[in-house]
Amino acid sequence: MKKTIFYSIAILTIVWQFIGCSREQVNQQTLENLKKSLVREISTRETYKAYTNQAEKEHLHQVARLFKALSIGENVHASNYINLLKSLDQDITSIDPFIVLDSTRFNLQNSIKEELFEIDSVYPVLLMGKFPSQTEKKISDVYRHTWEAEKSHKSLLLMIYDFFVSEAPKNIEKSEATLPSQNYLQKLDSDFLEKVYYVCPVDGKIFDSQNVPESCNICKTPKSKLIKVE
Ligand SMILES: [Fe+2]
Ligand SMILES: [Zn+2]
Repeated sequence: MKKTIFYSIAILTIVWQFIGCSREQVNQQTLENLKKSLVREISTRETYKAYTNQAEKEHLHQVARLFKALSIGENVHASNYINLLKSLDQDITSIDPFIVLDSTRFNLQNSIKEELFEIDSVYPVLLMGKFPSQTEKKISDVYRHTWEAEKSHKSLLLMIYDFFVSEAPKNIEKSEATLPSQNYLQKLDSDFLEKVYYVCPVDGKIFDSQNVPESCNICKTPKSKLIKVE
């Protein structure tokens, strides 16, 4: 009897250790960063949804389509963070997005500023963290891919913005350049070369129809699997 109890405890101990070892630990700072990243991506996604509706209201259909593609891209980022947090047994609480809505003229400028902030200040800092375990390496890969995707978001926003403010300097990003009046903006919107956008479902990178490759250059997802936004 004593022997049976001894063996049972020994087996339980081994199983317990096995479960403990197989669940990789990540440090507290990494968890905090992941949670903050999720909040930021959800806020950005909801902001782009609101910007899409606003641009439609203003009959700026080309801009609306870009904002729609951007919201899908940000949703990919948010989903990636949710999956990572779930794999680390973290509860996902509901998140109140922070949205500042204005007219499309200002929404465009704000979007460029926000994308630049992420590209210059958020992801470089996140990637300075330490990622010793396999799980943490996976997290740093997601950060790196998201960073690359955000650069495509900024480029597409600047392309449409530069078209609207062709006389503005290229690096208005930081940005006091003013956009034309609402009526003129509408005229320009209808002049802007009609574009369809393709969003990578793995990393949220966006391509326009003039530059869509056979596969995503970040993750190799084939063109046929990209999400078409028209
Ligand atoms: Fe973005
Ligand atoms: Zn991709």
